[in-house]
Amino acid sequence: LSHEDQNMLEAHEWLMKLYHHLLKHTKEGKDGLEYLKSRGMKDETIDQFQLGFAPDIKNFTASFLEKKGFSLQSMVKAGLLTDNRENKYIDRFQGRVIFPIRNHQGKTVAFGGRMIYQGEPKYLNSPETDIFHKGNVFYNFDLARNTIRKSGEAVLFEGYMDVISAYQAGVENGIATLGTSLTESQARLLRRYVDRVVICYDADSAGIEATKKAANILQNAGCYVKIAQLRQGMDPDDYIKTYGSESFREHVIGASITYMTFYLDYLKKDYNLQIESESMQYIEKALDEIAKLKKPFEIDYYLKELKDRFDISKEALQQEIAYRRRKFD
Ligand code: GTP
Ligand code: MN
Ligand code: MN
Ligand code: MN
Ligand code: MN
Repeated sequence: LSHEDQNMLEAHEWLMKLYHHLLKHTKEGKDGLEYLKSRGMKDETIDQFQLGFAPDIKNFTASFLEKKGFSLQSMVKAGLLTDNRENKYIDRFQGRVIFPIRNHQGKTVAFGGRMIYQGEPKYLNSPETDIFHKGNVFYNFDLARNTIRKSGEAVLFEGYMDVISAYQAGVENGIATLGTSLTESQARLLRRYVDRVVICYDADSAGIEATKKAANILQNAGCYVKIAQLRQGMDPDDYIKTYGSESFREHVIGASITYMTFYLDYLKKDYNLQIESESMQYIEKALDEIAKLKKPFEIDYYLKELKDRFDISKEALQQEIAYRRRKFD
């Protein structure tokens, strides 16, 4: 670790503690605490995730860091302050609830901040730095790792709030990407710990698109992928608030479906299967996807629905699969 990296880690450690303290014990942090309480967060959870609040004061963080002996220019590089045109150092996260982002060794290397007042963007994350590479880390991986290993399964969420709500609901193997889409590097990392990944993204069109992409990346890395389904428009945090923890564990996580079932369901929505030509297109697309499966029994299993629904012979379907698989090699 270079001296600069060490310096950045120390600054993050100080600020994580400062923001957490402010949130819990001071009037500067009162709005942040009220916000988290209004979202159903328990004190233990606030401690467990070391949540904090960066007060809505322009130079609060800068003067704290200065007192601790950090050079403010280096804190700009660390992504903790921004440098405005008049060369004043401004708190990057002011007015935001703070989610410390820890690396897999448990060291805080970045922050995510959620605005609690009027203002954009809703979430602001630390930029890429020498100690923080978004594409290589998961939020909460350090805490979730043991449960992930023991259960052989990880649950992948979209947002910090989803990970934390799920944790409160008893799902302790939840992780999230950091406001970006899942990378191959993250998938390879996960594969070292688990065979199975449950994707539990938001049930909106962005979430469904992201589910397809993440599922492909995870499957290519050798993971068995399942999809947890929420009601239209909800995210995991909303679901838990509305239907409770037990329902979330049983009817969402526990009822996850295979990726193929999820894919074929969504594909069906794109075609009017009352119309012959659209049925043909649907069958083509479905076969394209089924042909990617590795295990013969899985292929058979998903062909059965096509066989029954469209009354196509098993032989014809098998030929189609064989034809597609030759093209892959
Ligand atoms: P809440 O509104 O607090 O419940 O957050 P959410 O997690 O439901 O938000 P959303 O589903 O919109 O986004 C999921 C994740 O994407 C967040 O946790 C962030 O990591 C990221 N994200 C959302 N909005 C922004 C944004 O405006 N900027 C950036 N950089 N990331 C965002
Ligand atoms: Mn604490
Ligand atoms: Mn979303
Ligand atoms: Mn969401
Ligand atoms: Mn949400």
